[in-house]
Amino acid sequence: MTIWTALGRQLRCPRGPVGRTVGTLMRVANARPNALAVAALDLRPADEVLELGCGPGHAVAMMAEQVRHGTVHGIDPSATMLAQARARNRRAVRGGRIRLYRAKIEQLPFANASMDKILAVNVAYFWHEPALALSEIRRVLRPAGILSIYVTDASAMRRWPFADAETHRLFDCAELSRALRHGDFRHETVTITKVQITRRIAGLVATVTIKPGGLPDR
Ligand SMILES: C[S@@+](CC[C@H](N)C(=O)[O-])C[C@H]1O[C@@H](n2cnc3c(N)ncnc32)[C@H](O)[C@@H]1O
Repeated sequence: MTIWTALGRQLRCPRGPVGRTVGTLMRVANARPNALAVAALDLRPADEVLELGCGPGHAVAMMAEQVRHGTVHGIDPSATMLAQARARNRRAVRGGRIRLYRAKIEQLPFANASMDKILAVNVAYFWHEPALALSEIRRVLRPAGILSIYVTDASAMRRWPFADAETHRLFDCAELSRALRHGDFRHETVTITKVQITRRIAGLVATVTIKPGGLPDR
C-alpha cells in the first residue's frame, strides 16, 4: 500500500493517532467548504439539523451557534472522529443541543421526515452506492427541508494522489447533477453552484429543496 492510499483510507475513515492528526488538519482544510455549505442551509433557530460524516465536529459546532432551540445531530462511522467531535463540543453535547451517533449514511438511525436540514461536506466521495445514500437522505428530510452538499470539483481532486478510485468517487458538476436529478430528488429543486476555495481549487455546493407538503414520494 502506498502512503497516498493510506491517506485516502484515513480520510474515508480516520482511525488511531494518524486519524487524529487527519482530523486536526480537516478543521483547517474544510473551514471554507463548511462555511459555504452551512450558509446554503438557511438555518433557523428551531431547526432539527443533521450532518452526515461530521468528522471532528467543526460544522456541528458552527450550526449549533445558529440553532439555539433545535438540535444538531452528527453521524460518523469513525470512533476517532466522534471522540474529537465530542471533545470539541463537550458543553453542547452535555446540554443535548448536539447529539453524535456512530452510524453510516446508508442506514440512518432517524425516523422518516425528522430533519429540517441536512449537511454533507466532503463525504459524497465515500458513498459507494450514491442512490442508496440519497434515498436515506430523502427519507429523513421533512417537507420544505434543505440538503446542502459540498464536494471539491473533480478537476482539482484528480491532481491529488490520495483521491484515487479505491477510496474516492469524484464528482464534477454533470456527475453531481446526474446523481441528484435522477434519483429520489428528481421532483425537487436542485441548484449547483461552483465556488472557489483557493485560486487553484474549485468546489461545488449543491442544494436540494424539498417541496412543501406531502410525504416522501417513494
Ligand atoms: C473528509 S472527512 C470530512 C469531515 C467533515 N465533514 C469536514 O468537513 O471536516 C469525511 C468523513 O466522512 C466519514 N464517512 C466516511 N464514510 C461515511 C459513510 N458511509 N457515512 C457517513 N460518514 C462517512 C468519515 O469517517 C470522515 O469523518
